[in-house]
Amino acid sequence: MSAHAFPPSPNLALDELVTRRRRAGQPLIHLGFGESRLPVPDFLADRLRTGAARNRYGQIGGESDCREAAAGYFTRRGLRTHAEQVVMAPGSKPVLLALMAALPGAVVLPRPCWVTYEPQARLFAREVVGVSAPPQCGGVPDPDRLVPALRAARRAGLRPRSLVLTMPDNPTGTHAPAAVVRRLAEIAEDWDLLVISDEIYRDILHDPADRVTSPAEYVPERTVVTSGLSKSLALGGWRIGFARFPDTVDGLALQSRVIGLASEIWSSLAGPMQEVAGYALSEPPELRRHLAASTRLHGAVAAAVHEVVAGTGAICRPPTGGFYVYPDLTPLRGRLAKLGIRDSQTLERHLLDRLGVAVLGGHHFGDDPAALRFRAATSMLYGESDEEQWLALESTDPVALPHIERLLDTLSDAFTSLTDHTARPAEKARRSAALHTFC
Ligand SMILES: Cc1ncc(COP(=O)(O)O)c(C=O)c1O
Repeated sequence: MSAHAFPPSPNLALDELVTRRRRAGQPLIHLGFGESRLPVPDFLADRLRTGAARNRYGQIGGESDCREAAAGYFTRRGLRTHAEQVVMAPGSKPVLLALMAALPGAVVLPRPCWVTYEPQARLFAREVVGVSAPPQCGGVPDPDRLVPALRAARRAGLRPRSLVLTMPDNPTGTHAPAAVVRRLAEIAEDWDLLVISDEIYRDILHDPADRVTSPAEYVPERTVVTSGLSKSLALGGWRIGFARFPDTVDGLALQSRVIGLASEIWSSLAGPMQEVAGYALSEPPELRRHLAASTRLHGAVAAAVHEVVAGTGAICRPPTGGFYVYPDLTPLRGRLAKLGIRDSQTLERHLLDRLGVAVLGGHHFGDDPAALRFRAATSMLYGESDEEQWLALESTDPVALPHIERLLDTLSDAFTSLTDHTARPAEKARRSAALHTFC
């Protein structure tokens, strides 16, 4: 694929399609966009106002207060870090892009994986080695398949040099247990791979007793961790990302290359955002309370959507982090074929055009296009207005709130109609009425 032929990222393209269709009067439930639909709390808005005075370009890798705060953030998570290891950026997407540019060789990706890794790799003519995720979790290649895949890649003349892990994962909403991460770290060591650990969902673990094990705990000298505030604090539009580089000669040389690229592309993270990031990454109590409430909400709604899809007979890993579910409708293949659904593309189309549910088919995530899988972003169900979203955040039982419950019921009807064709006309009328009320 040449840079001239780059189509827009599928999740952004779907979001724009949904906006156009809604404007044209079509009611839709939008589960297609990986955004946490939550409002900005006052304590963050206040910081942004204070940060308005930071109008200089500033240091390429971030101002020292901001980098110190990021170092503290990692250190509190068991990864001792000093400020010089950190790079701040306008979102983690550009840091990942700069890493793809700075690293030679082929990139190993789990299948499925976030929609952007592969296009970014292709932009720099990097070959991609896809390895399917293990059954119990997404975001990582199955360690049992990784070594044979690396051998095959080498036989084919490729030089795999980096391995991307996503913990927790988009699209599956799950995260790898420590034992799996340890095995992958050992393989990375044996095969001399640099690990890029995308931990942007790290602070959204549904079970407060749970934790993410970073590969940087096992192979710190060969792990770059990327993260940002787009997901945990729902600040995607503010564009705040950061990365932690290994504290080694090679790690800091890689960081210099990334900073060099940054100097030619984004110059620095916007000054007001450095103010926000410095404050947020120091994690004051009000921010931790807000994060805990957001995480409770993500967990409750993801579990409710999981129940809906599992209730139709789909196979689906129970979500453990982030705000996604990734159902597999293979058990329904026979019945879906009667509706003309043969693969993830026709499944995505049917859900959008016939049932008014926008999701992204598994093919966008590098999954087998013949499989009947899709990703649903459950965080889109919290409400359209700030008021509804605050209600959801503050509720002890958000799925019982009328605006969320009605959407879940509508979703349930839509999925039921996939398996029970006879019930469709009555349900269709009910679904359409419910959608008109809420979308
Ligand atoms: C796994 C993953 N990594 C990175 C990003 C990029 O986020 P941002 O550029 O907003 O930091 C996303 C956003 O969807 C994501 O899902």
